[in-house]
Amino acid sequence: MSFAGKVVLITGASSGIGAETAIYFAQLGASLSITGRNKHNLEKVAEKCGKSKPFIVTGDLVNENDVKNIIDSTIKHYGKLDVLINNAGIVEFSNIETPSLEQYDNIMNINVRSVFQLTALAVPHLTKTKGNIVNVSSIAGLRPLRNNLSYCMSKAALDQFTRCVALELASRQVRVNAVNPGVVQTNILRNTGLSQEQVKIRFEQLKGMHALGRNGDSLEIAKTIAFLASNDASFMTGVTLLVDGGWHIVPPESIAMH
Ligand SMILES: NC(=O)c1ccc[n+]([C@@H]2O[C@H](COP(=O)([O-])OP(=O)(O)OC[C@H]3O[C@@H](n4cnc5c(N)ncnc54)[C@H](OP(=O)(O)O)[C@@H]3O)[C@@H](O)[C@H]2O)c1
Repeated sequence: MSFAGKVVLITGASSGIGAETAIYFAQLGASLSITGRNKHNLEKVAEKCGKSKPFIVTGDLVNENDVKNIIDSTIKHYGKLDVLINNAGIVEFSNIETPSLEQYDNIMNINVRSVFQLTALAVPHLTKTKGNIVNVSSIAGLRPLRNNLSYCMSKAALDQFTRCVALELASRQVRVNAVNPGVVQTNILRNTGLSQEQVKIRFEQLKGMHALGRNGDSLEIAKTIAFLASNDASFMTGVTLLVDGGWHIVPPESIAMH
């Protein structure tokens, strides 16, 4: 598999799955545009990409001007776009009995609204290259998780966004797919405000949710993203592909999120 000559834009590339995906695409010869808010972390990822020297563009995805700048500066730098990877996302703990509209808006703004805006801005460029989009969703788009209401809703919306936009763009030969990971040990839980110890306990508990009895690795997700973005998946569009260690086949009665 090669992405030589292909321009790939990855959001949330400063950490976790996005960072690993950037490094993997660099190994496959892609010309990368990587984005996030944390410049220092993006620079560290860029270093790990070696000779490919990614283009770094910082921005907050909740800021409409920043989102526009991510596309504009990528096009200015490379002149085209072949693959958009909508990876950035956050988790927050919420339920219907202790609702916070502020929290709901925050999660929807990052996990859904920014994807809507960035994708819309990318479509004219992807149409020119007959490119494709990979959205990073979650098992949470499919399975309800306790105390993760807004997050689950955001990922279900992203799954349906994937199917709707895939249908809209299919006649232009632009493919749109998603990966739906199980649990992967990244900074995502630490960013909810849990302590290091709580995060450790939580990731340990979550192993049991997967039929394979372990959490996933960022590289396992990166490889699936690369597959969907590659010509090897040329007849796939509108797919939400589970990479979840078999979480979805674990019987519901044994699922007990705390
Ligand atoms: N880890 C899991 O168990 C898991 C499971 C299923 C799905 N996922 C999905 O995988 C994706 C990546 O998550 P991860 O686990 O790799 O998390 P992570 O390590 O916390 O990374 C999240 C990334 O999103 C970026 N981001 C967050 N808010 C942003 C904002 N307002 N503007 C711009 N960038 C923002 C962060 O960049 P900055 O901090 O630099 O802004 C960071 O690069 C998410 O969509 C998540 O829902 C994760």
